[in-house]
Amino acid sequence: MEYKNIDVKKEEGIATITISRPKALNALNTETLEELENVLEVLQNDDGVKVIVITGAGEKAFVAGADISEMKDMSVFEAKKFAELGQKVFRKIELMKKPVIAAVNGYALGGGCELALACDIRIASRNAKFGQPEVGLGIIPGFGGTQRLPRIVGVSKAKELIYTGDMIDAEEALRIGLISKVVEQDKLLEEAYGIAKKIMSKGLVAVSLAKEAINKSLEVDIDSGMEYEANAFALCFGTQDQKEGMAAFLEKRAPKFEGR
Ligand code: COA
Repeated sequence: MEYKNIDVKKEEGIATITISRPKALNALNTETLEELENVLEVLQNDDGVKVIVITGAGEKAFVAGADISEMKDMSVFEAKKFAELGQKVFRKIELMKKPVIAAVNGYALGGGCELALACDIRIASRNAKFGQPEVGLGIIPGFGGTQRLPRIVGVSKAKELIYTGDMIDAEEALRIGLISKVVEQDKLLEEAYGIAKKIMSKGLVAVSLAKEAINKSLEVDIDSGMEYEANAFALCFGTQDQKEGMAAFLEKRAPKFEGR
């Protein structure tokens, strides 16, 4: 598939997806969501890719929301289809076997904030702004915001942000646990790649299993979650990485993980 609205770069095991619709501050239209869905599938199946970084083109916006021009005249059924497409693509990120890092380089509003919420780790540049301004357009978040934001920042803060549509800056996003780091804009990708490389130096089957188990913690009761964790923990003992990791520790040397 040829991409018109995203750029994809692969280097040293890290794939960077850059959402690029400069004229609309990288807003997500149907075409962009379909391209994103396609590239995620390709990267999921690419054994050379271990970690994915998602960012926005330019210095102003990560993604300034779903495309308002496209949504303006949607019928009820078209709107449902649009929400389901966004939800499906973002769920793909969440269920991806590989870690996904959002490098938020500017406005992350509406669908942009929701895109970041679906990623495993969120870091941002100092100029980044987050918000769910949908009620100001007479709609609600439709790409998972009402479900993921309360899980990440708590129900009360999520309701405040969604009911008021207020924008918050990167420092406030850090304070409420929406992101885990704020850096200068020119250091943002470097920082994201640093995190990616640190993850890549570990046992990647274990990282993938940890992602699944943590995701489960948000979806199931604690006993089912514990059972899931015990099974995933046990599965690690079938990997070469577990043997290497423990042998390396006992032999006082650095482990050489193979991701299997
Ligand atoms: N959908 C479609 N187009 C968008 C967009 C969106 N979500 N966000 C920005 N754009 C477009 C603007 O219409 C404008 O296009 P134009 O140059 O053809 O007029 C261009 O991007 C630049 O945006 P502009 O509003 O002029 O920039 P700004 O610096 O004054 O403001 C924002 C930046 C992000 C505060 C403002 O664009 C904004 O509020 N965007 C909408 C955010 C939103 O409500 N998102 C949730 C949608 S559900």
